[in-house]
Amino acid sequence: MTDANDPSPPDPSLEEPVPVPEPEAYELDVNGRSHSVPSAWIGESLLYVLRERLGLPGAKNACEQGECGSCSLFLDGVLVNSCCVLAADATDADIRTIEGLGGEEELTDVQQAFLDTGAVQCGFCIPGLITTVHDLLDREPAADDLQVREAISGNLCRCTGYGRILQAVEEVKSRREAAR
Ligand code: FES
Ligand code: FES
Repeated sequence: MTDANDPSPPDPSLEEPVPVPEPEAYELDVNGRSHSVPSAWIGESLLYVLRERLGLPGAKNACEQGECGSCSLFLDGVLVNSCCVLAADATDADIRTIEGLGGEEELTDVQQAFLDTGAVQCGFCIPGLITTVHDLLDREPAADDLQVREAISGNLCRCTGYGRILQAVEEVKSRREAAR
């Protein structure tokens, strides 16, 4: 705190401006395609770069602090909250977003089951939930109710009450079992 009655000059080191980092250029491999990020602040999150620089809005931005799961995606096959990953740290990674899991013409079985069971309301949480359910059922094809609830516990949905989401997961499991 500055003492107004202190006649000594201010410490010059405290007056120096904080240097602003230079923008960086790098490449990201997203959904099997290489994307140039020509000029970005090195501290930007992967979520921010995907949405605001690469025009890939599938991963949603709700909390930006790893609490809601709406930004979930795969980084080298591992489910992560992309708001908590630096984009510049993901330059050597295989990034897979909801846009790379299916499409308008070709839904994944998880996407189809969410639609069929009415598990989608406003839809904001859905890309994160779909990604999380794919991750769970790839690791644990016969996941029981407790495992499903545990897996999706990091994905906050304020609309559905989760009943139909749980139903959708059961539907995927039965359809996969029947297709064997
Ligand atoms: S926006 Fe990343 S966890 Fe909420
Ligand atoms: S469907 Fe609206 S937040 Fe989940």
